[in-house]
Amino acid sequence: MTKSRLFRLWLVLGSVFTVLLIIAYWDSVGTAHSYLRTPFSRPQPLEPRPSPADKEGEASVDDFLEKLLGASTKNIVPGRKTEQPPPASSRPAPGSMEESVRGYDWSSRDAPQGPDLAGRQAERRSVLRDFCANASFVFPAKERSFDDIPNYELNHLIVDDRHGVIYCYVPKVACTNWKRVMIVLSQSLLDRGAPYRDPLDIPREHVHNSSTHLTFNKFWRRYGKLSRHLMKVKLQKYTKFLFVRDPFVRLISAFRSKFELENEDFYRRFAVPMLRTYANRTSLPASVSEAFGAGLKVSFRNFIQYLLDPRTEKLAPFNEHWRQVHRLCHPCQIEYDFVGKLETLDQDAAQLLRLLKVDQRLHFPPSYRNRTASSWEEDWFARIPLAWRRQLYKLYEADFVLFGYPKPENLLRD
Ligand SMILES: *[C@@H]1O[C@H](CO)[C@@H](O)[C@H](O)[C@H]1NC(C)=O
Ligand SMILES: *[C@@H]1O[C@H](CO)[C@@H](O)[C@H](O)[C@H]1NC(C)=O
Ligand SMILES: *[C@@H]1O[C@H](CO)[C@@H](O)[C@H](O)[C@H]1NC(C)=O
Ligand SMILES: *[C@@H]1O[C@H](CO)[C@@H](O)[C@H](O)[C@H]1NC(C)=O
Repeated sequence: MTKSRLFRLWLVLGSVFTVLLIIAYWDSVGTAHSYLRTPFSRPQPLEPRPSPADKEGEASVDDFLEKLLGASTKNIVPGRKTEQPPPASSRPAPGSMEESVRGYDWSSRDAPQGPDLAGRQAERRSVLRDFCANASFVFPAKERSFDDIPNYELNHLIVDDRHGVIYCYVPKVACTNWKRVMIVLSQSLLDRGAPYRDPLDIPREHVHNSSTHLTFNKFWRRYGKLSRHLMKVKLQKYTKFLFVRDPFVRLISAFRSKFELENEDFYRRFAVPMLRTYANRTSLPASVSEAFGAGLKVSFRNFIQYLLDPRTEKLAPFNEHWRQVHRLCHPCQIEYDFVGKLETLDQDAAQLLRLLKVDQRLHFPPSYRNRTASSWEEDWFARIPLAWRRQLYKLYEADFVLFGYPKPENLLRD
């Protein structure tokens, strides 16, 4: 190699290194600060996590970035030690506000204590891992690698660099309140110049405005070609969580909130086509209030028909309110550290905030609304033909299985 060639090589390597350094530095500034203020340790899976499927060359870049981002927080505290029984003070006094809210189930009254909670998480994660690894259990896109997931499918992963947390939000599973928590943690929204401190102070319209949150799909614009590497580094280092619920109950909940209440947007985008196609209505009012006034409402049956119609997905992917959780959160590509369930929301929320070591300054907002209960399932599905129910189960089977929800045999038998 001639001298000038060698020189040019060094020049190129040098600039690449500088760019990497700058990007990694700017990216880690926020995290580094928060490590000082709020010591954070990730919950460790009980078994060593397999490293994400990497191509050979990429792994070294990841290692490099990881070193720059400071791998010092890794493998320090075993997760189980951080899962302590809830302090008695975290429970509301009898008759306090939360207690008396209609339909609010303060289920931590008989809460399992620390070891049980840790065991429950270990169990949920192991079910997930086992079925992801089980080759005879298949569903669409299961086998693709993280790199093959297009950016726009990563739009449900919200990142908080200050505490090292990634939350995959699932609509109809307490996502408004978890988004609020993420806003408080990441200080991504200011109220007259100061970050919000109480999740409940954040107005609803801001919570669901996507510009409030840093999501993975926005990395490309920020970091360009390095975005995938950065995502993978963060996925390895940060605590990743999601909340799920019984898939059929989630569908009922989606139907209730989007089609039983007046929602202009959902009326125009979904109810009108459904009424045309499945209810044989030709002339439909322009506004939802007129339609409701005339008794024109999508029935649950129409909604199920829409979900089962193969034309629906051909037109556009399912709306996020009824899209399968595995399509929103990619649980076989992303190894979640914490799988919360709406059915045990209060216990899980408290446990997660303790794990993140933010429970002293943050409480998960209680749910005030009349939550869709699993026990109504039979009533809702009573007028849905058996063949449709079975088809619907197939459509959502992966969510049932991956998240450990029993097959609803009572709905699927003759
Ligand atoms: C919740 O709403 C359902 C109907 O949507 C109603 O039947 C039920 O009584 C309500 N529950 C409470 C506790 O208000
Ligand atoms: C793998 O999945 C299949 C199909 O769901 C199931 O029948 C089988 O029991 C699973 N195997 C293991 C080892 O879990
Ligand atoms: C979302 O927030 C951005 C920035 O604050 C604002 O410009 C935009 O109008 C908001 N969008 C909606 C739909 O409110
Ligand atoms: C749909 O409605 C039209 C007129 O209202 C009627 O003639 C037709 O038979 C209906 N079709 C079905 C399948 O119900």
